Amino acid sequence: MAREGSSPKGSRLLLLLLLVNLLLCKTVASMPSCLNRAANCQMSLQDMFDRALYVSNYMHNLSTDMFSEFDRRYAQGRGYITRALNSCHTSSLPTPEDKEQAQKIHAEELLRLIVSILHSWNEPLTHLVSEMRSIQGAPNTLLSKAIEIEEQNKRLLEGMEKIIGQVQPEAKGNYFYSVWSGLPPQQVNDEDHRNSGVYSLSHCLNRDTHKIYSFLKVLSCRLIYKNNC
Ligand SMILES: *[C@@H]1O[C@H](CO)[C@@H](O)[C@H](O)[C@H]1NC(C)=O
Repeated sequence: MAREGSSPKGSRLLLLLLLVNLLLCKTVASMPSCLNRAANCQMSLQDMFDRALYVSNYMHNLSTDMFSEFDRRYAQGRGYITRALNSCHTSSLPTPEDKEQAQKIHAEELLRLIVSILHSWNEPLTHLVSEMRSIQGAPNTLLSKAIEIEEQNKRLLEGMEKIIGQVQPEAKGNYFYSVWSGLPPQQVNDEDHRNSGVYSLSHCLNRDTHKIYSFLKVLSCRLIYKNNC
């Protein structure tokens, strides 16, 4: 009692120094391998899932904002929605409709489906960016969102391939893709037709980003948290 009371500040300082030291050692020890993403980065599966979930949530948010902004500005009262329904190029993929259906599918299959969806958006997203660029007087916010989604799609694809590499190394590169046939040929200056095509793409993108996010949640819960979430 007397000894502890004799220099409480000193021992507390010592403890603090020890803690700081421990933290520093831990940070320094865990940093070099992940500092350079190209290098042999030893991320845990949980870190990979956390990152993938974040990116996919971000993509879904961007796509929701982009779709509602486009809808508000260009689609009011034009009936684009009737053409957009059931016309998604990814409809040919056997994706579950909701979380309950997704729960029943094997993790490996669900992972492959996510990668297939992401892959089959590469081209349409490039197309979407160039369409947004060509819309006369379109606000910059629409174009910048399309560009950001295109980049995040690639980023998530890379992340998912790393996850598959860990969960199921033998399956790498063994996916099925849905081929995008492009928009039907259109008349020059047929603005209504072009806008309808952009509307459909944005609508499908919003649907698919939502699917990807909810499949990832199902998978992360199953593979990382042993269904305890
Ligand atoms: C996405 O939007 C939701 C709801 O607004 C928000 O809570 C979340 O933080 C957003 N996620 C990202 C990654 O931006």
